[in-house]
Amino acid sequence: MTLHPGLSAVAGLIGTWRGEGAGEYPTIDPFAYTEEVTFSDVGKPFLHYMQRTWSPAGAPMHTETGYLRLVDGSSVEFVLAQPTGQAELAEGPLAATADGFTCELASRVSNSASAKQVDGTERRIELAGDVLTTHFAMAAVGVPMTHHLKSVMHRV
Ligand code: HEM
Repeated sequence: MTLHPGLSAVAGLIGTWRGEGAGEYPTIDPFAYTEEVTFSDVGKPFLHYMQRTWSPAGAPMHTETGYLRLVDGSSVEFVLAQPTGQAELAEGPLAATADGFTCELASRVSNSASAKQVDGTERRIELAGDVLTTHFAMAAVGVPMTHHLKSVMHRV
């Protein structure tokens, strides 16, 4: 399958990544997790994204899925569905680096009636060769924008 030309700047994401993460928030106890992420080319001008995480004991933790789209080759739209009742519409610029890119996304969030209130999120995605680093912050449950997650994954 030929990759859509509009996706060339993010072609390096395609594949499966696995690694370790750490989470915290002022309202909860810090925690560690293992993360696996897959970006798939589906022959269209967007990538399909699937994420799963596990506790150190191997129990399933958070999972999320979505679509990553490039606008004009330099701006990212990442639409994400959370099983906890939030939908994130994350947007921001992509900056090329020597061996990948960095991408800073800020999102608008919709919350279901039963979801914990999330007012906004910020994601930073760094691709450097075979290392994918993610940062996630959120304004949620009455707390202003604050770091929640960081993970470092390698291509598998
Ligand atoms: C709380 C893990 C991603 C929003 C928590 C907690 C854990 C956790 C262990 C504390 C216990 C609990 O309430 O379940 C993770 C992991 C993630 C992840 C491993 C992915 C790697 C997200 C995302 C969002 C989010 C993407 C929002 C879109 C929240 C909220 C709370 C929370 C709102 C509740 C805080 C509170 O009640 O004080 N998370 N989370 N999390 N997380 Fe995450």
